[in-house]
Amino acid sequence: LPTRPLAGRHVLVTAGPTHEPIDPVRYIANRSSGRQGFAIAGALARLGARVTLVAGPVDLPTPVGVTRVDVETGGQMAEAVDTALPADVAVMVAAVADWRVDPAAQKIKKGAGEPALRLLPNPDILAGLAAGPRRPRLLIGFAAETERVVEHATAKRVRKGVDWIVANDVSGDVMGGGANTVHILTADGVEDWPRLPKDEVAARLAQRIAEALT
Ligand code: C5P
Repeated sequence: LPTRPLAGRHVLVTAGPTHEPIDPVRYIANRSSGRQGFAIAGALARLGARVTLVAGPVDLPTPVGVTRVDVETGGQMAEAVDTALPADVAVMVAAVADWRVDPAAQKIKKGAGEPALRLLPNPDILAGLAAGPRRPRLLIGFAAETERVVEHATAKRVRKGVDWIVANDVSGDVMGGGANTVHILTADGVEDWPRLPKDEVAARLAQRIAEALT
């Protein structure tokens, strides 16, 4: 096999959480360190891909050889993904907040009663990409599940119209930790991977992607 099998390919990766502001000092967010997504972006670059990494707010160095676009909100992430297209492959690892808030212009003051937060749906970036005219040839979603992991992720693969789902069991200490237990769901079935360091999950996934494109 060539050492840079993804040379000439553009791969889009999303990673990290999104922050949805409530007012100038507060936000709602999903729990995500960004480590798995950053590791995947780095592994893809090492196989020769041109990688665009759209990153939510995380405290991580940019992997070598990766072009990084920083965003804060889900809406900004959707825009940055659109701007980065076309791509041969997209790996959507970000934990996008499902809801956003119409933020208050000034800091909400305590003592003025219990503020009501109206939650507005964020765009589903992955589903939009799957249904859109510039769908990458290989579209990969992630599914963080706490129970019946494979069953829920299988349903998600079909519902969102993606090629592969990387399902991870987040019932343990995955968040922010160094290891991950994943299942790879494709049209052909399920592959159960052992608990591995996130860098190793990334390297194996990048290799699988390279094989799928050749
Ligand atoms: O529906 P759920 O959030 O569990 O789906 C997870 C997958 O969808 C991940 O690949 C995630 O990056 C993607 N997603 C997205 N935009 C959203 C919500 C999820 O791209 N608003």
